[in-house]
Parts: sequence; structure tokens; C-alpha cells
Amino acid sequence: MKARHLLTTIGMAALMLSSGAAYAQSKMTIGFSQVGSESGWRAAETKVSKIEADKRGVDLKISDAQQKQENQIRAVRSFIAQGVDGIFIAPVVSTGWDAVLKEAKDAKIPVVLLDRSIDTKDESLYLTAVTSDTVYEGKVAGEWLAKETGGKCNVVELQGTVGSSPAINRKKGFDQVMAANPGMKIIRTQSGDFTRTKGKEVMESFIKAEGGGKNICAVYAHNDDMAIGAIQAIKEAGLKPGKDIKVVSIDAVPDIFKAMADGEANVTVELTPNMAGPALDALMAFKKDGTVPKKWIQTESKVYTPETAKAEYDRRKDLY
Ligand code: AHR
Repeated sequence: MKARHLLTTIGMAALMLSSGAAYAQSKMTIGFSQVGSESGWRAAETKVSKIEADKRGVDLKISDAQQKQENQIRAVRSFIAQGVDGIFIAPVVSTGWDAVLKEAKDAKIPVVLLDRSIDTKDESLYLTAVTSDTVYEGKVAGEWLAKETGGKCNVVELQGTVGSSPAINRKKGFDQVMAANPGMKIIRTQSGDFTRTKGKEVMESFIKAEGGGKNICAVYAHNDDMAIGAIQAIKEAGLKPGKDIKVVSIDAVPDIFKAMADGEANVTVELTPNMAGPALDALMAFKKDGTVPKKWIQTESKVYTPETAKAEYDRRKDLY
């Protein structure tokens, strides 16, 4: 009797182990090559990606590239070697992807681009890209400023990471508005690499070069973190951000809503941190029955001004 009980127990344990193994096998594994942690928005995207993966029972392996493309290429090759079910890439820069994407394609591993696009002649190298319209973001920020200043404004620009698609496109969109408004001019432009520290440093140099800031009507920052850095530089120069120098940026992170509520920033354009949700849905549907998603899954870009800043800050502060 004892022996039979032991055998039953062993049998059940074996069954549990094998069904566990089957579960482990059926659980989808996705490798995500993330840019780094350069901004509040980026940290939020990483957090939301984990939440979205957990919701769907997906094992998401995140590799932090520390803003370097070579680290991303290494991570993608390692994901291919591990035989993951899919790969997400938030590409640091837009060029230089064809070779490694071809390796993923040859290994039959679908790739989804998150929040940044790439330059390639062969779109079959990736399944889909989940991004906003980054040219529109720059354009709508410029249009707000043109309206606010009656089309007369000396702007200093803090660009994002050199060679990244949002830096290229946010500049392009904003420049379109400058071209249509002869009274508006970008008097200085430089990269602040999407970070708060560099945004502050570059703004300090702009202020110094422009009569202590007196010649500057507005700062256009390609993301909120650089805008926050610029706000600090403006304050330290004895000027009032949001008033003496208007502050225009992109992302819609809680800190910029706080600055807007305090009267120190003027407008931001939202970039949702939830790129992984739509990316996972597209990839899972593709894996399940071959459903091919649209090549571009576009996320919304909403403009926010100080009127709703306090409420938006309260709504978002714990989400990030
Ligand atoms: O690619 C999206 C951009 O990257 C965000 O606007 C910026 O904050 C981040 O670093």
C-alpha cells in the first residue's frame, strides 16, 4: 500500500514537472533591445513594457544598450542565438540595421521596432514599427509657438540623440513651421542627447552666447527631460522659464506637467510609453495564425498646455 502511494506521488510529481515544462515551452519569449535609461519617458516605457508582457504571460528579456548601437547589435545576435520567439528593438540610431535584421529574418524570428524608426530599403526585414508620427510632433510644437508669439520668435533648439529618428524628424517638423514664418528663427541648435544633464549644459551655453538669454524668446527641446534641464539653466541665469523664455517640448512626462502647473513650461506633445502593448498584440497574432500587421502602427500625439497640467500630473505621477 505504501509502495503504491509512493508510486502515485512520483507519478503526479512527474506529471506536474512535465506539464510545467510544457507550460514553459508554450510561454512566448521576446528579447527587447532597449535604448537605455536616458529619460523619464524611457524609464516609463521600460516599466510599461514589463507590465504589458506580464499581462499576456510573455517572458520579456530586456537588454539595456546604454545608448550604443553596437550593444544593440550584440544583444540582437544573442537573442537570435537563444532562439527567442520575437525581438523588439528601440533603435538608438536609424541607420546600420540591415545586416543584423537579415540574420533575424534568416532565423525566422520576427522583429518589431518600438518608438523609433530605421532607414532601410528592405521593409521585409521587420514585421511592423510601433511609433508616433515624430515629424508631426515637431510640427505641432512649432505651430503652437508660432500662434503664441504671433510668428515672431528667436528659438534655441535642444536636439535629441544625433542620428536617432525622433531627433531627425522632430527637427524636420519644427523647421517646416519656421520656413512658413519668416519672423521665426532658430538662432542656436545643438544636441542634448535626450538627457536632463546635457539639456541643462547646452542651455547654459546658449544663454551665455545670447546676451544672458535676452535674445532668446523660446527653447524647443526634443524631449521633456532636456526641457527640464533647460528650465534649471534659465532659472540659474536669473530669468523666468515659461515667461521670459518659453519652453516647448515633447513626451508628456509627469515632471513637465509639474513645471507647467508651476508656470515654468508652456506646452508638451504626448508620446505614449505604451509601445509594447500594440507590439505584443501584433506579434502574438502573427505567431498564432500568420496575421500580418500594418507596417506602421501609429500611436497618438496629443498636445497639452498648462490649463490641464495639474490634473494630468496627478493622473500620471504614479504611473511613471
Ligand atoms: O524615441 C523616443 C524618445 O526617446 C523620447 O522622446 C525621449 O525622451 C527618449 O529618449
